[in-house]
Parts: sequence; C-alpha cells; structure tokens
Amino acid sequence: MKVLGIETSCDETAAAVLDGSRVLSSKVASQDEVHAPFGGVVPELASRRHMEVIVPIIESALEESKMKLDDIDGIAVTRAPGLVGSLLVGISTAKGIAMSRDIPLVGINHLEGHLMAVNIENKPVHPWLGMVVSGGHTSIYLVKGFGDYELIGSTQDDAAGEAFDKVAKLLGLGYPGGPVIERVSASGDADRFEFTRPRIKDGKYDFSFSGIKTSCLLKVRDARSKGIYDDKFIVDLAASFQKAAVGFLVEKIEQAVIDFGAKGVAISGGVAANKMLRNSVISKSRELGVECYIPSFRFCTDNAAMIAYVGGRYLETGRRDELTLNAKANEEIGL
Ligand code: KG4
Ligand code: ZN
Repeated sequence: MKVLGIETSCDETAAAVLDGSRVLSSKVASQDEVHAPFGGVVPELASRRHMEVIVPIIESALEESKMKLDDIDGIAVTRAPGLVGSLLVGISTAKGIAMSRDIPLVGINHLEGHLMAVNIENKPVHPWLGMVVSGGHTSIYLVKGFGDYELIGSTQDDAAGEAFDKVAKLLGLGYPGGPVIERVSASGDADRFEFTRPRIKDGKYDFSFSGIKTSCLLKVRDARSKGIYDDKFIVDLAASFQKAAVGFLVEKIEQAVIDFGAKGVAISGGVAANKMLRNSVISKSRELGVECYIPSFRFCTDNAAMIAYVGGRYLETGRRDELTLNAKANEEIGL
C-alpha cells in the first residue's frame, strides 16, 4: 500500500511516500530560521510558513518517489497533538487531496508516529519499551503490539527537548537548543557542575526537568555576580547539563526495562538525535542484555515518514477518517 504522509504539527513541514515500511521519499522543510530570532516557535509564523511550503513539499516528495497522486492508495496526516493552526494546514491539504482524488484519509497521532518510527528500519520483538523524547513530550511506553501501548511514565513539568531549548536560550546559544548544546558540549567539561536528581512525587517512571533548568539559571546568576561568566563557563555548563539530562532519561529506562521485563528498548523524537543519549541507551541495553533500536536521525526528528508508516498500518485494517477530521492540541496515547 502506497501512502502519502503529511506532518505539520509544529515547525517542520514534511511529506513522505512509503510503500509499507519502504521509504520512497521523505522531505522536511525546517522553519528554524523563521523562529530563531525569537528563541522558540511563534505559532502564527509557523502556520503561515506551512501554508507557503506545504504544496511544494508534497510535490517534491511525490517526484522523488516517482509516484503520481493517482498511484497513492491512502493519505495519512498528523491530527494531534501540536499547534492547532499548524496542524490545520496539513489536515486541510490532506482533505483537499483526498476529496479531489477520492483517496482514503486517516488522521494520526504525532506521538504514535514518533514511537512507531522505529518499525521503519527494525522489527522490534514485543514487548519493548519506547521512550519518546521531543520538544513537547517525554514519555515511556510499554509496546505490546501495534496500537497496544501502555503509558508508564511521563514528564511532570518540562519536556526534555524543552529543557535543552530553555537552557540554550539562557546561555545565549540560539535555537533550537538541543543540537547547539550537543555541539558546544564537545569542548566542555561535563563534570564541572553537578545537579541533584529531581524529586518525583508519585510516578516511579516519571520525569522532571524544571529543577535542572532552574539550577542552570541559578548557576548563571551566581557566575555573573562573581564575574566568572565566560565562554568556558557556558560550554562547561552546557556539557554538564547534557550529561545530567541524559543520565535522568537513561536511569528511568533501566528501571522500567527491569520492572516490566521488556525485550528491547527504543528511543525516538527530536532529543533521540542526541549522540550522548543514543550511545548511553545502546550501552545500557547491552548491560541489561536487551535489544536496542534507535531510528536514523532523519526518522527521530519531526518527519512525515513516521506518519505515513503508522497511517499505512491503520489503513490496512480498514480504518478511515471522514472529511470532518479536525485538529487537537492535546492527545495522549497508551492511556
Ligand atoms: O520531535 P521534534 O523534532 O519536535 C517535537 O515534536 O517537539 O523535537 C524537537 C526537540 C527540540 O526541543 C530540540 O531542541 C530537540 O528536539 N533536539 C535535540 C537534538 N536535536 C533536536 N535535543 C538534544 N540533542 C539533539 N541533538
Ligand atoms: Zn515531534
């Protein structure tokens, strides 16, 4: 089944064509330069840019896949969660194509896309533990089968990517924060600053990133008052923050793998592009004797291949959405 995937939940406009799990094309237009001057995504600017590039991106994905709209068996579009104005651009475009060409349409949850992106390149053995770490979400799921997810933990405050973005902004490093923190950390001393482990109220597998972010802010204020806030301080704090954030994530994965008897571990979402996190999860999985599945970088950050993949699986089961399909800002999976 050949599926056209469309993703516009935040600040990436993406289109992809998949045949089952075979990626025939996957195109992403980033809006980083639009939002960088503001240090974060400006929703109004995001939807306007989606409007400008959605059609060219779809055309380019079709061209690379050597497919025409008449060859497409289904359209999958991200319906939630995300910025509603952004989601609506993708949804309206998908509806327009579906209606004019009489192609089945299915709306997909962005988190399910991230979680199941691992299936594009791997065939994980169930049950496996999937951690989605992005700019808006940090959650761990036990995956027992396709569509059969149990949410076992999530962040109680900031998402991991949000913490990377906020700390980068605090240190004047620019946006998006994750890649720039990773880059400058390479020349920093990750052991210079210590962070206390966040105190989690109830959930054993839950996360918290607001404490570490506040701790960075206090360290910066202290350094400024002592006149030691310089380039060395910035890269050392970035490196120490990255090490601590990765440590918190891996610690929860380890606990959950042991407690739930998972046969494998997968990470996905934008923060899963972080090499320190990838390497730490690989070595922790080895130590625990379980498989480790990590999607390629291009399937970790926002993309439409993950939406087309999940959409194809649902379309095969006969699932369809009507042209009344609407966007939703919030929608969990696995509850
Ligand atoms: O999944 P994603 O592309 O979009 C959302 O659904 O949020 O994730 C974006 C997040 C941003 O917060 C960004 O700073 C973070 O992923 N990110 C990284 C890296 N690359 C992207 N965080 C840490 N290290 C990276 N290399
Ligand atoms: Zn995402």
